[in-house]
Amino acid sequence: MPALDIKRLRSETPGCDQRIHLNNAGAALMPAPVVQAIQDHILLESRIGGYEAADARHDAMLAAYQSVADLIGTQPRNIAFTENATASFSLALSSLPLARGDVILTTRNDYASNQIQLLSLQARIGVQIIRAPDRSAGGVDLQAMAELIHGERVRLVCVTHVPTNSGLVQDVRAIGSACRDAGVLYLLDACQSIGQLPLDVADLGCDFLSASARKYLRGPRGAGFLYVSDRALDQGLEPLFIDMRGADWIGENRYRAVADAKRFENWESAWALVLATGEAARYAMAVGMEAISRRVIGLGQRLREQLASIDQVRVLDRGSELCGIVSAAIEGRDPGELVTALRARGINTSAQRQEYALLDYDDKRITASLRISPHYYNTEEEIDQALSAIREILQGRR
Ligand SMILES: Cc1ncc(COP(=O)(O)O)c(C=O)c1O
Repeated sequence: MPALDIKRLRSETPGCDQRIHLNNAGAALMPAPVVQAIQDHILLESRIGGYEAADARHDAMLAAYQSVADLIGTQPRNIAFTENATASFSLALSSLPLARGDVILTTRNDYASNQIQLLSLQARIGVQIIRAPDRSAGGVDLQAMAELIHGERVRLVCVTHVPTNSGLVQDVRAIGSACRDAGVLYLLDACQSIGQLPLDVADLGCDFLSASARKYLRGPRGAGFLYVSDRALDQGLEPLFIDMRGADWIGENRYRAVADAKRFENWESAWALVLATGEAARYAMAVGMEAISRRVIGLGQRLREQLASIDQVRVLDRGSELCGIVSAAIEGRDPGELVTALRARGINTSAQRQEYALLDYDDKRITASLRISPHYYNTEEEIDQALSAIREILQGRR
């Protein structure tokens, strides 16, 4: 596999001149073609009108569906553009005809907003939420998960591929295969893995995949997408509050959902962001997803090893497979203060709090952590500079 041309990739990323950006799990730096796609469309809307601009760029919009579909190994008919990963998740969740006593199976490392939505369903209609236990080495216990999947009244399995707050990569393929065996629907949160790890929905075995554009995919904020499998479409699943993009009003008391995943979309969309998301998908594929993931994982590993050598630091990432997200507890220091001190030096990181990942933090006996999340365009020198800055700040030298 040829090495990435980091110099060229950085020259196409205007933000690289401004910051050492190690907050890609928050929102990555957009490459110039993505920025251009947004600017061009907004400008066109301002000049000829929003609906007219949408008509004029119809082919480019079809290409955006195609590019996102290509990125995850599916067809445009299986893609719905949304505002973010949480919206994608709730649209998928709302499409299931759940009843009191139905079981939703999840893990101890799932995203907070997803868990809150499940709890809301529990409060409103009495579904039962079961969380598979973790292995002591980290990550869900696959055997326990597989047994639970075959349990009574399991209607849905929800798993976060890569949690927001740690480097864990769950074995989502194994879970997908257990779901297929049991004929259970599978909703995968790929918000942190899209653009970071190669994803192929056939291989993952999921029915829904929720994703954001702004994170490792390097797309814009306020954009995301939902993959819906043919299996889910053929079952007639549709979001609870389907609108006239997703369905046609065909009689006084009747509507008919459209055939493809657009039944999960809203009538109104930020088309500039959709076009930019398509551009981000094309950019990621041109760079190469295998090469991207190899480099991101390598930079994460370098960071982890060096962080672990600092006295006050405890690296928190657990699991048999780790990615580019690095998390650490710092003895006697609020991670928020560290983030501010690093930002003052032009280094972007993030502080994670207990309420973002309640169960994982309880298990690790911490209330907050520092998250450092490199991307492929970061350099080894940037990682080393960030580490030196952390050492200096912890030693009280400014
Ligand atoms: C694992 C995971 N899932 C879902 C989300 C929610 O994404 P969004 O803010 O785009 O709704 C995040 C955001 O950080 C995340 O890390």
